[in-house]
Amino acid sequence: MRSSRISDFYKLSIDERLKIIKEFSSLTDEEVETLKNSGGLKLEDADRMIENAIGAFSLPVGIAVNFVINGKDYLIPMAIEEPSVVAGASNAARIAGEGGGFHASSTEPIMIAQVQLVGVQDPNRARAELLSRKEEILKIANEQDPLLLSLGGGAKDIEVRVIDTEMSQMIIVHLLVDTRDAMGPNVVNTMAEAVAPKIREIADAGTVYLRIVSNLAVHRLARAWALFPSKTIGGEDVVDGILYAYAFASADPYRCATHNKGIMNGIAAVVQATANDTRAIEAGAHAFASIHGRYAPLTCWEKNADGDLVGSIEVPVAVGIVGGATRHPQAKVNLKILGVKSSRELGEVLAAVGLAQNLAALRALATVGIQRGHMRLHARNIAAMAGAKGELIDKVAEIIVREKKIRVDRAREVLEKLVAKK
Ligand code: MEV
Repeated sequence: MRSSRISDFYKLSIDERLKIIKEFSSLTDEEVETLKNSGGLKLEDADRMIENAIGAFSLPVGIAVNFVINGKDYLIPMAIEEPSVVAGASNAARIAGEGGGFHASSTEPIMIAQVQLVGVQDPNRARAELLSRKEEILKIANEQDPLLLSLGGGAKDIEVRVIDTEMSQMIIVHLLVDTRDAMGPNVVNTMAEAVAPKIREIADAGTVYLRIVSNLAVHRLARAWALFPSKTIGGEDVVDGILYAYAFASADPYRCATHNKGIMNGIAAVVQATANDTRAIEAGAHAFASIHGRYAPLTCWEKNADGDLVGSIEVPVAVGIVGGATRHPQAKVNLKILGVKSSRELGEVLAAVGLAQNLAALRALATVGIQRGHMRLHARNIAAMAGAKGELIDKVAEIIVREKKIRVDRAREVLEKLVAKK
């Protein structure tokens, strides 16, 4: 049985962890080597990915355990430099597991490409014309990518908006494109450029300027909810503390930015691990959080009739499992570990991780505070800096955390004493 419920995963050595991951995801020896080799991006590949390449940059990849989403077990690779994120997600997922796991769903993977048309005297006439002749526009768009069409994707519909701007009214045409398992910015940008002359022709006036994807992917959403039993998260006071934290974020943009940042700690780490575009996801998430004219939390927290905590989330998930940089050797292995079969499934995982990350942060903030978790890892670094090796790292860290003296000089003293005792 493939189970993501692995207690004390953090206590294992890296090799022991890799052994578990290898079995869980049927990795080959070569794939394990890629993981051990910090991602294995060759310089010549880096040189093909961007301009002026001089090297590659690696980040730690950790595995979030305990995730059960729609009844399926996931081990989730997260690429992130920040301590406590992987532990927080794993811990929250364990609690959600006691409430039945995460329930997730998603829309079709529809991206928006925008075409901007300015200088039309009677934009509402043009809008009506464009909508009535949308098939002509869709036909041109779909000629651009026969492969996508054969996979069931392609341009499906258009939206036409007339917006007021500082310069003048503008017509903004949205091409709605199902990009299937690709994130799809290249294909939608190509389509937008291809349909622009037809849009100008149908509008019979004006000038086309921008033709580009929108990162506010409101038609490519993932949702998840989970029940966190009150008993497991620490009782009624903790539930109420979390609800107060949520109310704070809902009422105050200064808090809300941090609330949503915590959610994105989890989401962006998985997006990074799969070599998707973290900036696109961040931009989409924060714009989506403001969609009703007020910056709001991406999650929602409620108490059910039994006093248990129920969390839910809805986020745009413009991510792919093919194309783009997902060919990155480590991203390929990470996608295999995840075991997602479609971009929609990856989006659902992102929603669940975001929700878990938010629960972990709010629970810590409403109780012991966030520093305790951070300090543990920080203390291990300090212990290593003081010269501790192997088991002694944890021993020294434990003592300096207990003493609240997380300093290299104290770590050295503690280490000397422990070594002398041996
Ligand atoms: C830190 O990276 C994230 C938190 O600040 C999130 C939050 O405050 O909700 C802990």
